[in-house]
Amino acid sequence: MKILIIAAVLSAFAAPAFADAPKPPDAPVVSPDGALFKAFGGHDGLVRVVDDLYANINADDRIKGFFEPAKEPHTKAMLVEQFCQITGGGCVYSGKDMEKVHREMGITRADFDALVEDLQKSMTKNHVPFAAQNQLLAALAPQNRTIVYHPRPEDAASQGPVGK
Ligand code: HEM
Repeated sequence: MKILIIAAVLSAFAAPAFADAPKPPDAPVVSPDGALFKAFGGHDGLVRVVDDLYANINADDRIKGFFEPAKEPHTKAMLVEQFCQITGGGCVYSGKDMEKVHREMGITRADFDALVEDLQKSMTKNHVPFAAQNQLLAALAPQNRTIVYHPRPEDAASQGPVGK
């Protein structure tokens, strides 16, 4: 019971702090020496991982509806670029701002987790070592703060109290 109360208090305070927190960088370099890039099999390895990620997304009824087939080549290229920058492959991410591109989509935490699961499957299929998988996922995890839809307080207030 005590733990439940502490958790409730913490989450009550966490909400406003969360809203004010600075947004994470779109592509933080986590392996400046390129060791992580090598563990992924370099640029070709990243292309294979992203190709398989897309195959998984396109077969995933939970989230495939979000993606436009016509945009697939561009989005794939941007994902490769972003992963290449993060893993220390020396690329510079030139795509759109992560927050702006996902903002209007209404992505939930469950959608985010589904995509991460599809990415994990594609990394495992491509024999990316487990530790390297975790390094990339850890770099991407903070993105859920900008990608997952959070109603603005004024929107929530305008809906009125529950049941009215
Ligand atoms: C860590 C997780 C994610 C990363 C790193 C990521 C990255 C990206 C990137 C780099 C782009 C292309 C930006 C550009 O056009 O310049 C993009 C677009 C897009 N993302 Fe994400 N994203 C993530 C999560 C998600 C999730 C969870 C969804 C939905 C389930 C999603 C749906 C989309 C859609 C629909 C587009 C627009 C292009 C299209 O229709 O293919 N993303 N994302």
